[in-house]
Amino acid sequence: MWAFRTSIILLMTGTLLAQQHSYTPAEIQDGKLLFDANCGNCHGADGNAITGAEVGQGRFRRANSDEDLVNLIRTGIPGTAMPPHTFNDTQLGTVVAFLRNMSAPGAAATTNTGNAPASNAAGGQAIFEGKGQCLNCHSVKGVGSRLGPNLTQIGAARPSAAEIQRSIVDPGAEIRAENRFFRAVTQRGVTSTGRLLNQDTFSIQLMDSGEQLVSLMKSNLREYGPVPTPMPSYRDRLTAQELTDLVSYLVSLR
Ligand code: HEC
Ligand code: HEC
Repeated sequence: MWAFRTSIILLMTGTLLAQQHSYTPAEIQDGKLLFDANCGNCHGADGNAITGAEVGQGRFRRANSDEDLVNLIRTGIPGTAMPPHTFNDTQLGTVVAFLRNMSAPGAAATTNTGNAPASNAAGGQAIFEGKGQCLNCHSVKGVGSRLGPNLTQIGAARPSAAEIQRSIVDPGAEIRAENRFFRAVTQRGVTSTGRLLNQDTFSIQLMDSGEQLVSLMKSNLREYGPVPTPMPSYRDRLTAQELTDLVSYLVSLR
């Protein structure tokens, strides 16, 4: 009902009115709860965690009217980490109401009573670089180690925050082919372990634990094959809040 009425008005009058449309405090509050529970994980509590998609500013690159926003939220943005959402029309209306009001002074702060913890990508970066010691194995924008996969674009490469979270709490569960860890032992008994960069009929190439590219002829190897990932599970090493912040930081890397 609500969305239907609004969209007719919008068809006639365009963007200007959309931005001037006023929403009841109850609509905005309901939208805030939905936003915190479904969007804040990636977009941040203030909406500004994703560079290039700062939805907390009241301006949208990919949407003008309320109807554009409704469609965008419902279908997601294919090919990006922005997922589709199954909200009903009333819920969609309240989320749009909240989005339209986020840039109002204090809007995000005054009603910060959502049940989901507000996420904080800057805090996540601090955990990534500090307590989590992720740079021991990963690099972001040229800083860190090449042992594990480069995470500079991880938010674009991974379709969902849930998937990124799974990589952190359950690293062995699902490993992309290009991230597999291999161990090779030469005829003389020298062992190399590292990320498998490439292999063909005759040779394999690893990025070893000393971050050296190692190329080995299979004919010189006594044995070679996959080994479990060296990445530890962070399930018990991080609090729920730290994990949420970490995921929102990684999702913002695009
Ligand atoms: C898994 C992470 C994730 C979740 C959850 C998520 N988004 Fe997004 N969203 C993104 C990303 C990434 C983009 C940027 C896509 C692009 O343009 O490349 C985006 C873009 C958007 C845009 C377009 C911004 C613009 O400038 O046009 C809007 C609006 C938006 N999201 C709203 C929402 C709302 C509302 C929710 C919750 C109902 C939500 N998002 C949930 C990741 C997410
Ligand atoms: C001891 C080395 C090591 C540490 C420490 C480590 N990782 Fe990893 N990580 C890896 C390796 C190797 C892989 C690839 C194999 C796999 O998926 O488990 C990986 C995979 C990942 C992936 C999946 C990448 C993809 O392309 O899908 C993510 C996300 C990730 N790590 C995040 C983190 C974060 C966040 C931390 C810190 C809290 C961390 N890692 C700490 C070694 C490490």
